[in-house]
Amino acid sequence: MKILVTGGLGFIGSHTVVELQNQGFEVVAIDNLSNSSIEVLEGIERITGKKPIFENIDLREKSSVQNFFKKYQDIVGVIHFAASKAVGESVENPLLYYENNINTLVYVLQELTKLPQANFIFSSSCTVYGQAEKMPITENASVQPAISPYGNTKQIGEEIIQDVAKVTNVNSILLRYFNPIGAHPSAEIGELPKGVPQNLVPYITQTGIGIRKELSVYGNDYPTPDGTCIRDYIHVVDLAKAHVIALQRLLNKQNVEKVETFNLGTGTGSSVLEVIHAFEKVSGQKLPYKIVDRREGDVIAAYANTDKANAVLGWKAKSSLEEALSSAWDWEQKIRS
Ligand code: WQD
Repeated sequence: MKILVTGGLGFIGSHTVVELQNQGFEVVAIDNLSNSSIEVLEGIERITGKKPIFENIDLREKSSVQNFFKKYQDIVGVIHFAASKAVGESVENPLLYYENNINTLVYVLQELTKLPQANFIFSSSCTVYGQAEKMPITENASVQPAISPYGNTKQIGEEIIQDVAKVTNVNSILLRYFNPIGAHPSAEIGELPKGVPQNLVPYITQTGIGIRKELSVYGNDYPTPDGTCIRDYIHVVDLAKAHVIALQRLLNKQNVEKVETFNLGTGTGSSVLEVIHAFEKVSGQKLPYKIVDRREGDVIAAYANTDKANAVLGWKAKSSLEEALSSAWDWEQKIRS
């Protein structure tokens, strides 16, 4: 069965391609390499023994999307990762984010509706919840007005998919990720942030290896036990596996609604200082850090209630924070060696 993975050479995309191939799916990966590297294909091959079919396509070009779907009419499912994801950049250049994340989604859905089997998995985000009133966060928590254009593209994306489901044959699953971290245990693929990392874990591993002088901890005066923000850090391989299960649910027509939504997290919240200490434990070294002002737009706490994914998908994150950090550290050491 042929599956399209857009953004297939990116961080979560590449790990999902591996899990799909491990389960016997034939994968066609699309990527425009704007935030990924062609060498990822070799990493995937070293893990699975097989390279996915690869098409270097920019999904912002409508005619390229149309031509792609004419060529691959036997696609039975699409996992759509391709998007920009830097919150700060989205504030500075909102139109780039609406073009990259919304236009591309529209073009892919337009073609998908023409296929006999229209199964669609969408990368959404826990940012749609903003600062939720109750922890852990269930899928029923209300969607809050987005703080950044990036967050808004995820909310609008979900709404587009809901509207399309009402009038077409497209069946979709929206996966709301909490904080994906880590790398494949083989250290053949992992996260490759361009420039200075904006996210906590790549900043930590780059500080650990000596590329960054010290980590800035954004605020220690939050109303949390140690004063730093709390997030739900999920190993990217656990996350990738959930995509395969969600896809199988659609392929087997087990979905009970045309659009289903699942939180993907571990269910456990960790503070920034807890992440730092866990990293120090797995790496066996002290991490230089300083406390600085709060970062604009950060919520105090966000961690998932994963009961729905556990019960309905039969999926549960297996890796601990330490295992995830350990894999991220192995990867960082490997790419710098
Ligand atoms: C985690 C915690 C920071 C960097 C964002 C997006 C979200 C998702 C993932 C996907 C926070 C603190 C961070 C640093 C720090 N999107 N921190 N020093 O903000 O939870 O989520 O990325 O693609 O949609 O909003 O993740 O890793 O940036 O931050 O103290 O140098 O680490 O304040 O508490 P965040 P993050």
